[in-house]
Amino acid sequence: MYQKRPGIYMADWWDADGRRHRKQFASSQAAREHEHRETALAHAERAGRELKLAGRGGIKRRPAETTNGTLEPARGKLGIMIPGMGAVATTFVAGVEAIRKGLAKPIGSLTQMGTVRLGKRTEGRSPKIKEFVPLAGLDDLVFSGWDIFEDNMYEAASNAGVLEQRTLDQLKPFLSSITPQPAVFDHNYVKKIDGPNVKKGKTKMDLAEQLRADIREFKKTSGATRLITMWCGSTESYIEPTEAHQSVKSFEKALRDNDEMVAPSMIYAYASLMESVPFANGAPNLTVDLPVMLELSRKNEAPICGKDFKTGQTLMKTDLAPAFKARLLGLSGWYSTNILGNRDGEVLDDPGSFKTKEESKLGVLEHILQPGLYPELYGNIFHKVRINYYPPRGDNKEGWDNIDIFGWLGYPMQIKVDFLCRDSILAAPIVLDLVLFLDLAHRCSDLRGLGIQEWLSFYFKSPMTVPGLYPEHDLFIQLMKLKNTLRHLKGEELITHLGLEYYD
Ligand SMILES: NC(=O)c1ccc[n+]([C@@H]2O[C@H](COP(=O)([O-])OP(=O)(O)OC[C@H]3O[C@@H](n4cnc5c(N)ncnc54)[C@H](O)[C@@H]3O)[C@@H](O)[C@H]2O)c1
Repeated sequence: MYQKRPGIYMADWWDADGRRHRKQFASSQAAREHEHRETALAHAERAGRELKLAGRGGIKRRPAETTNGTLEPARGKLGIMIPGMGAVATTFVAGVEAIRKGLAKPIGSLTQMGTVRLGKRTEGRSPKIKEFVPLAGLDDLVFSGWDIFEDNMYEAASNAGVLEQRTLDQLKPFLSSITPQPAVFDHNYVKKIDGPNVKKGKTKMDLAEQLRADIREFKKTSGATRLITMWCGSTESYIEPTEAHQSVKSFEKALRDNDEMVAPSMIYAYASLMESVPFANGAPNLTVDLPVMLELSRKNEAPICGKDFKTGQTLMKTDLAPAFKARLLGLSGWYSTNILGNRDGEVLDDPGSFKTKEESKLGVLEHILQPGLYPELYGNIFHKVRINYYPPRGDNKEGWDNIDIFGWLGYPMQIKVDFLCRDSILAAPIVLDLVLFLDLAHRCSDLRGLGIQEWLSFYFKSPMTVPGLYPEHDLFIQLMKLKNTLRHLKGEELITHLGLEYYD
């Protein structure tokens, strides 16, 4: 769905034969509903056709393939460029350096600590993921970034106050050596902050060219063989897609015309994809979640993924909601509130930025619980999300949930979750996994031309999918999808958990 002009909204979907359709509506709600309905119909139609084919013996199981020649090894350095060198970015980079020095362990990182089961349960084959697929090693990572403040990574990490000063001091020479390049910034998109380290240009296209020059320069000076851009910048004000975002042609015109609907994060995304650099989006902004970026990503074989890291409260929500649905327990209300005092909290205190975050947080329940299929259980949910800026807490957020459920004969029950978490401690391992997996996708002939890497949904609150396809939010389905993708890449059998063969 996108806004064509004020008051005119376009539903935008693909039919069962892969043809794209658009229809005009007077409200975004009506356009979105139409898009969902048509997409569901297209999926049902496709599923019906597949069943028919299977009945006639027309669908053959794909033989297990070996990946020789299609999965390139991770040779040389991997350069990681981060727009937004704040709490998350510095906790990630400082963490990688602490792990490289043997000072700490990569807790929370699937790529570093996770395993993947291969074959039958009786085979006892569960290698570490990093030994199963060719990921870049931590020693091969080099870093760069952009920020509106001039602080180097040591100063920025000290200001963020996430990691203990004692730890940061042990890493000081390394962190101090990473200084931000001037940012592409527009105060209208992030109203609560302003800084001096900002690029100047007559048009947004000029700014994009400057970012492209930064990217090429970093590749040269760092000696990296491959690059990834990882958006860790502030949450931008809420906007809906417009005509400008529908194709590369219209987007480039918008860049030249200084169209106000082109947000800074989109300029970074455009510059990266033009340089064939994969892009991941950790914030809830649209950024790469636009037809123009999908077109560029596919054309230049630079994978994309996003949006909004799935950390504290939403991580809990997407763990609990599937359990309610699995047991057919009803839900009447879910009230979620947060108090946090870091700069992210300050930015989200602005209604425009909060609206972007709110949209991202609200979507998950509807997609997991499927009220259309279970109207008596989930047809009437009151879902509220609040974020309150409360400086004394710093990065140590409190995410509090009151959940009203009902069971047998409609009897009500309540669940309370009080998660005293650390935002950036939860986000840093996600950043590490994303850059390593995106780099893997870029080296893989099966994945690099797909554009959106839906198998990385596991890490996001608002996972990207091709237009019209509803996202999968259930954490455990997402994990299965991720691991099955790795098995597929290596020609291993996919695990369905059917398990009848153990009882033959
Ligand atoms: N920590 C989490 O658990 C979590 C979870 C989900 C999403 N996020 C998102 O990740 C992002 C980073 O979070 P954080 O806690 O590090 O925030 P932060 O405020 O500490 O850091 C963001 C940094 O981005 C910089 N910035 C803003 N606009 C920029 C631009 N156009 N170019 C370059 N730099 C820019 C700011 O100056 C700041 O240093 C936020 O959007 C946040 O909503 C964080």
